[in-house]
Amino acid sequence: MSQVTLRAAARESFGRLRQSQIYTGGVFGRRPEVPTAWAALDRQAQRRLPARAYGYVAGGAGSESTMAADRAAFDRWRLVPRMLHDVSVRDTSVELFGHRLPAPLLLAPIGALGIVHRDGDLAVARAAATHGVPLIFSNQASVAMERCAAAMGDAPRWFQLYWSTSDELVASLVGRAERAGCSAIVVTLDTTMLGWRPRDLDRAYLPFAVGDGLAQYTSDPVFRRLAGSTVPSGPAGRPRLTELPALLRSVARMVSTTGRPPGSARAIVQTFLQTYSRPSLTWDDLPALRSLTSLPIVLKGIQRGDDARRALDAGVDGLIVSTHGGRQVDGARGALDSLPEVVAAVGGAVPVLMDSGVRSGADVLKAVALGARAVCVGRPYALALGLAGRRGVDEVLANLIAEFDLTLGLCGYHSVAELESSVLERV
Ligand code: FNR
Repeated sequence: MSQVTLRAAARESFGRLRQSQIYTGGVFGRRPEVPTAWAALDRQAQRRLPARAYGYVAGGAGSESTMAADRAAFDRWRLVPRMLHDVSVRDTSVELFGHRLPAPLLLAPIGALGIVHRDGDLAVARAAATHGVPLIFSNQASVAMERCAAAMGDAPRWFQLYWSTSDELVASLVGRAERAGCSAIVVTLDTTMLGWRPRDLDRAYLPFAVGDGLAQYTSDPVFRRLAGSTVPSGPAGRPRLTELPALLRSVARMVSTTGRPPGSARAIVQTFLQTYSRPSLTWDDLPALRSLTSLPIVLKGIQRGDDARRALDAGVDGLIVSTHGGRQVDGARGALDSLPEVVAAVGGAVPVLMDSGVRSGADVLKAVALGARAVCVGRPYALALGLAGRRGVDEVLANLIAEFDLTLGLCGYHSVAELESSVLERV
């Protein structure tokens, strides 16, 4: 579907259009590329993707009880539809940092997407641009932000930063994000260290250690200098990024057989492991980031009201309530359960977004009714990418927006702004 068609449809009824697209396809023997419900999508991905790639995406910290809590939090809220409100025309759009989004939806930053599909972030960027849904480029992407941005035209994108131990690298990444047309910087606070993730530990598998998910680094002049200027580069300033994972994999194989990897590839991985995050980060560091950019700064990983108030004091422009999809702290409170506390603490001063556990249009509605300006979705699009590339991501986005639109109307509302707390009941 073209962007124009989508925008026109969004005004009328994107949900009904998407439904009829699927049912009409059925008349000609066509089925959706990926299952429309999360549980079936997840099952299919588990069957079809390589075990360690699926494990990396699907897994969480420790016993994975935070992942369960993220979902249980959604299940404790029930929608209470109202009737007879002429819902023939609906508006699913929301405003965020001066831009109008087609729905309260963004694509969460997901690292190492190259392990599920060879096109990785590039396929996601194209699908996101088709729908006008903002993509948050991961600091751990498999494709450099400039290449993704070039594939997106003027479609919205943000950049997610892991605060490196190198100030110079932080400045370089933020500068590149600005030049690549990103309209916000998301600082992920919850991953100053990697969580304890048994699925990956038991396979002794970390994508970055074998060179996947390092494209923002290997394309960065500061990082390249830190790593000893040894990263191979391609013509016209475009590094041969696609070659790097293969190169590093072969190095990893070499390490296991000879114990003597060549200096450059080893330097890349080592420099990455030494610099990618700063466990010593405190609230006092935030002004340094403010001085680097005039873009909105959004803190990702806030889970408490007192932290939300500190964030406001620090002058940030937005928050994302998140458990990082349950991948960092085992036994944490579900993200949706933290949302009301954070929304109350912020008192409307800045937009509050949320992620972790969003699996359907109904989930989007619940989060928005609890005060989220928008939600980010993670694993559903990553697994759809693994199953069907760009087409899979495209369908997941279309389905989420369609289901949100229909649920909004079927609950008796025309627009997001109109939603009221009585649409929800806690059970
Ligand atoms: C993530 N997430 C993440 N977050 C971030 O700030 N930078 C990153 O590079 C990544 N990488 C990443 C990889 C994978 C495989 C997953 C599943 C998640 C967290 C992500 O942005 C988001 O918070 C969660 O994915 C949201 O939860 P759901 O929708 O996956 O349940």
